[in-house]
Amino acid sequence: MASTHGAEVLVASNRGPVSYEVIEDGSLLAKRGGGGLVSGLSAIGPETNAVWVCAALGGGDREAVRRAGGGLLPAEETGGQRVRMLDIDATVFSDAYNGIANSVLWFVHHMLYQTPLEPVFDAEFRRQWASYEAYNRAFAEALAEEAADGAAVLIQDYHLALAPRMLRRLRPDLRIGHFSHTPWAPPDYFRLLPDDIAAELLTGILGADRAAFLTQRWADAFTDCCHAVLGPGIPSGTRIGVHGLGADADFLRERAHRPDVDERMAALREEIGEGRRTIVRVDRTELSKNIVRGLLAYRQLLEDHPEWRERVVHLAFAYPSRQDLAVYREYTAEVERVAETINSVFGTEGWTPVVLHVKDDFARSLAAYRLADVALVNPIRDGMNLVAKEVPVVSDEGCALVLSREAGAYEELGEDAIVVNPYDIGGTARALHEALSLAGGERAERSKRLAAAATALPPAQWFLDQLGALER
Ligand code: G6P
Repeated sequence: MASTHGAEVLVASNRGPVSYEVIEDGSLLAKRGGGGLVSGLSAIGPETNAVWVCAALGGGDREAVRRAGGGLLPAEETGGQRVRMLDIDATVFSDAYNGIANSVLWFVHHMLYQTPLEPVFDAEFRRQWASYEAYNRAFAEALAEEAADGAAVLIQDYHLALAPRMLRRLRPDLRIGHFSHTPWAPPDYFRLLPDDIAAELLTGILGADRAAFLTQRWADAFTDCCHAVLGPGIPSGTRIGVHGLGADADFLRERAHRPDVDERMAALREEIGEGRRTIVRVDRTELSKNIVRGLLAYRQLLEDHPEWRERVVHLAFAYPSRQDLAVYREYTAEVERVAETINSVFGTEGWTPVVLHVKDDFARSLAAYRLADVALVNPIRDGMNLVAKEVPVVSDEGCALVLSREAGAYEELGEDAIVVNPYDIGGTARALHEALSLAGGERAERSKRLAAAATALPPAQWFLDQLGALER
């Protein structure tokens, strides 16, 4: 297909840099997001013609696409970025996003199944898989239409595992990269998937010139899966890369000292009470984040070390995620239930052991980062986990980091963190005790080293490196 629009750099991801809501008077409210891709695209400068292709996620987005006539969204709503949002049929989208991406691929890569009863790959799964293919095809076709000859296309994540190969077929001239922001499952787990599906996912990504990951561990797991499912060697000659996304120190430090953050700090100090230590966690309420076991470990700490009662508060921010899925709603309810139990068992007149907030508030998250004595990051499995990288950068006094060895961030931060097996409640409780007990000087030193490691590859450079690697 001939190129009609001529973008030289293209990014494709399910969630775009902007989302829309229809408000009362019928007008559209645009909300802009952040993240590594946004910084990356801003870094390449306005002289490069860049386009971001993403999906309409809800009614507001679909309305915005209609008003834009299916073309690029108005630049004043996207922060100047050229964004093409795809209005994919709502059922196809839901099957692909909720059905396959979030309920199958996310579960496989994070190893979340309760295997005696799930997964079940039946006719319904096959129906949803056809939608996943259609969704990927819609992206491949839009990218093929937008890209200039020889353009670089960076395709993101498990939502779009088939798109690289589909796009390669439509446009052999393009340089295609795929980036996985999640872990990659080891072969024994990956092969829970039906053999043909496993092969399609791998060959889909191998349609790219380069497949990249957040850590060496996930890159190796991908290669191992290729060998286990497709046979020895990487058949397509696809190169494998690793780019460990870091925290954006300049942005975070500036943003964390604005007045709205100071206000949130004052409010949190009220909730915490005078002179108490803080254990901070900030997560989307994701099954993989292991929030419930984190609370159980905190409870164990209060049982085993009564000397911490009244002297520590656990600030747990668990923000809504994927609430269309029943299992996520149930998990959210369980987090709330366990937090309430701890408060009713241990709480006193002037001390609430767990302060749980479930309403997303970025300024309050930064306020908690600044107040953190201990950061608790204990995921079952995580591609990277940027919270682990952000808290040491922002915390006012320096923080101790209790970190799961299953988080991608462990590869870079393991040495100065207090490392835990995320399933081990007793071990995590001991780690919390050790973290709370670290002498001030030692804690500040470690925190400084953590912050340095955490900011080694800022988002803009992370993105530019990927583009550069695709040119070679
Ligand atoms: C996490 C993962 C990303 C993924 C995103 C999707 O942030 O690290 O790999 O793309 O979730 O979340 P969403 O809310 O769009 O389902």
